[in-house]
Parts: sequence; structure tokens; C-alpha cells
Amino acid sequence: MHSTEEVSMHDPFQLFLSEMAAVFRAEGRACATETAEALLSATEVAPLTNDSPGDTDAICGLLAGSTLAVARAALAAHDMLPWGHNPVSSQMKPEDEALFSVVDLMGPEAPLYCPTLRAGLYYQRPNTRYGLHSHAAAETYVIIAGRALWTAGDAQREMVAGHSVHHSTYLPHACQTGDEGVVALWRWSGDIGIESYRLHHGAEAFGAFAA
Ligand SMILES: [Fe+2]
Repeated sequence: MHSTEEVSMHDPFQLFLSEMAAVFRAEGRACATETAEALLSATEVAPLTNDSPGDTDAICGLLAGSTLAVARAALAAHDMLPWGHNPVSSQMKPEDEALFSVVDLMGPEAPLYCPTLRAGLYYQRPNTRYGLHSHAAAETYVIIAGRALWTAGDAQREMVAGHSVHHSTYLPHACQTGDEGVVALWRWSGDIGIESYRLHHGAEAFGAFAA
């Protein structure tokens, strides 16, 4: 736990929050700026525990290979980040959830309490496809290490560190990794309830890219 007495800009966790906030502030959307401010002022209400230690070497290896300041800060704070806490876990099948690991950093049930916004980190393992899914929340991902082939609605592109993508409400999106895997920041705004989350199975999972 980080009590107010312990918090300082020399704290790797606080430094990471500052870098993460800077990334969202640079996005330019009002909801992104609001998320940046919330990250810097949120109260820590629960311990930060890493429940996905098996991914540590892969995540740290990717972060170490990134030139972004936020990636270096995430690497320095890795032991304090609560990997393995996916906010939409209850909506998913275990085999789908096995593709990735999530940090639920800020939100209604997260260690940093915020009732109206969610934000965290995302790691998707190498050579996996997280198929088309959608939700009511508006969402932004910012790649901080590794690479991925990203699908958002009818658009598809290779994303590397520094690239970002915004999903408007209910826009279906998917992520395919290669040999490296990918690490990203993410944030949700608007209707952040998890009830609307849906992984599209069957033929619809291929969307506009059906062969
Ligand atoms: Fe999403």
C-alpha cells in the first residue's frame, strides 16, 4: 500500500502513473484528460498484487525493448502493478481469457478507486488472436511495447509502440499478435458497465474480414 506519507515522485509507481497520465493527456479527448487527472488524484483503496507472475519475464522483456518513457516507467514499477485482474473476467470463457493478462488499475473495483472511468494495462501473449469483441464503453488503447495487428470496425493496421486506437461505443475490435506479443495502456469512459461486453463467436467473429 502507498500511504500519503510514502507517496513521492521518486516512487516508481507514482512515476508510472505520471507517465500514463501524460500519455492520456496527449490524446486530446476530454474523457482522456479526465482519465489523466483521475489517475493522479485517485485514492488507493486496495493492495496492488501481481496475480499473473508467469508473464513477468515476457512483459518485462517487451518493456525493456521499448524506447517510450511510459514503458520504462512501467518496467520500473512492474512489481507494483496488479497483473491478472481483468474487469470483464466474469463475461469471458477461461480459454479466451488465457490469451492475455490485464491490469485493472483504476475503476469501480480497482485498487485506485474511480466510479466513472476505468484504466489499466494489457498484455497479449505471442501468436494469439483475441477475436472481435465489443462493449458500450468508449475505449482507447496505446501500444507501449511489442506489436499487433489491430482490427477496429472496418479498419485494420499494424500497431507498434506509440500508436493508439480509439473504439467508439460498441465498435467491434480484435487483436492479433506475432512472435513478440504486445503491451498497451487502455482506458474506458462513458458507460463503463461490464454487462455489455461481448466476445463475438462463430461467423460474426470474422466480421468484414471473412475469407
Ligand atoms: Fe475493448
